Amino acid sequence: MNDQIIAREFIELVKKPPIAVVFLNRPEALNALSVGLMRNLAETLEELDKDDNIGVIVLSGKGRAFAAGADIKEMSGANEDDFISQDRLGNWDRLRSIKKPVIAAVHGFALGGGCELALICDIIIASEDAQFGQPEILIGVMPGAGGTQRLARAVGKYRAMEIALTGRRITAQEAHALLGEPECC
Ligand code: HXC
Repeated sequence: MNDQIIAREFIELVKKPPIAVVFLNRPEALNALSVGLMRNLAETLEELDKDDNIGVIVLSGKGRAFAAGADIKEMSGANEDDFISQDRLGNWDRLRSIKKPVIAAVHGFALGGGCELALICDIIIASEDAQFGQPEILIGVMPGAGGTQRLARAVGKYRAMEIALTGRRITAQEAHALLGEPECC
């Protein structure tokens, strides 16, 4: 069967049953996770979750990043009412509810919400140029989409604190070393 390519505003979906590849598609903004992109992503993953022809979802980014985090420009123009009415965290809850396995295929930057998005996935495959980090502290906020908890579970409390409190980026190689070798057959 030919690949089916479906373009949404901020998402490109390639279906090759039983695999679906979902690309974040705002390369000009390093796939910054705007409200519109997050809605597109949640809708797309929910649809794939219900699709009997799809068994696994791969999540990747177009351009030179996986995702450089929440959309800082959009956030800086938002007030409290916007945050409530746009239900930003609700979209993250929708992603967490996906039952099919989701594999993050990470290249380039996976920062802030981008790192949290990778951490929500069930497996992370990182290319050698991948850079992970929680740089929120550098703009005066903390990781707000579960990153503090998931990162601590992945690399332990002290490494997670160091990464979140310094905002430094870690390479794919360092991330791999922090996680240790997978238990394998
Ligand atoms: C909006 C962003 C963006 C972001 C990059 N861009 N990151 N726009 N939100 N998070 C835009 C830039 O403004 C620029 O647009 C274009 O993408 C290319 O970025 P450059 O900075 O020119 O690229 P480069 O010099 O290579 O630097 C890449 C970078 C840097 C190191 C990733 O862009 C950066 O530090 N970005 C912010 C990363 C960050 O702080 N993430 C955490 C966000 S807070 P123009 O139009 O100027 O060309 C967060 C909270 C999550 O994620 C909470 C969840 C609820």
